[in-house]
Amino acid sequence: MNIKNVDICVGLAWGDEAKGKITVHLTKENKYDFVCRWAGGNNAGHTIYKDNKKYVTNLIPCGIFYGVKCIIGPDCVVNIDNFFKEIEYLKENGFNTDLIKVSPKAHIITDEHIEEDIAKYKNKLGTTAKGIAPCYRDKYGRTGKRVKDDKKFEGYIWDEELYGNILCEGAQGFWLDINYGNYPYITSSNTLPYSACSLGFPPQLINKIYGAVKIYDTRVGYDPDFPEELLKDDDLKKLGELGEEYGSTTGRQRIVNWLNVDKLIKAINISGTTSLIISKVDIIQKLGIYKIYYKEKLI
Ligand code: IMP
Ligand code: MG
Repeated sequence: MNIKNVDICVGLAWGDEAKGKITVHLTKENKYDFVCRWAGGNNAGHTIYKDNKKYVTNLIPCGIFYGVKCIIGPDCVVNIDNFFKEIEYLKENGFNTDLIKVSPKAHIITDEHIEEDIAKYKNKLGTTAKGIAPCYRDKYGRTGKRVKDDKKFEGYIWDEELYGNILCEGAQGFWLDINYGNYPYITSSNTLPYSACSLGFPPQLINKIYGAVKIYDTRVGYDPDFPEELLKDDDLKKLGELGEEYGSTTGRQRIVNWLNVDKLIKAINISGTTSLIISKVDIIQKLGIYKIYYKEKLI
């Protein structure tokens, strides 16, 4: 095996922890041979800035903005139209899309998956309506369709071993994980770093695990742990306005709460975080009110 080193950027909350910006920073600072996505699909949304221009991608890893090979791994799910739209968008903006490759084992999100998500899950669970749950259901039911079954992906397939230095870019976050989150108000994939091994490396090769979190919590999509009353709290409302807390994929308003440190500690410990990256500290400074949940009390 020719892999030298693996670093991972993982979300420690409910997504929207600036993993995209962190991945971009790490890609600029280090010599990675690959930036890889290991889970999820176009339910994710990464907003990054390059040369003062804003870019949003949903599936393609942020390494593409800095000329690094980008892999969409076997445990990801791919919406074909969205994948090629994103490629067009990146091409139009001058990025080298030849670097984008997808595992032949990744599963395809069909129109039926999306229709089912809209009919059964969107309102009940507040999903992103991208067909994620039905697609993973069919994967695990062993009736799914894979990238290798579709001719459109010719030229975009990656069926080789990874090598060199690898950065794995997380999607969603620890508390949206299928095992650790508030089931069924979660996503259908494995968001924890151990799951990045599905890309084809042993856990021993993992070096740095960058855990991303905001200085306050936000949640988009329905979750009883984030009741609607939080939207009426004046301080939290202000915090949401100052932090521009709207989803990058769906444009939905995020429910804001004070940082739950109990949950953060658990997420750090179980994920194996080696470096903690806390963002939006400037936003809470602007608000000038500092509260956290610690040992189940708001202090
Ligand atoms: P799904 O992944 O579309 O099935 O959505 C399941 C839950 O995860 C919903 O509450 C979504 O709002 C949430 N979710 C999924 N992807 C993301 C993300 O990238 N950021 C934030 N929340 C997400
Ligand atoms: Mg996001």
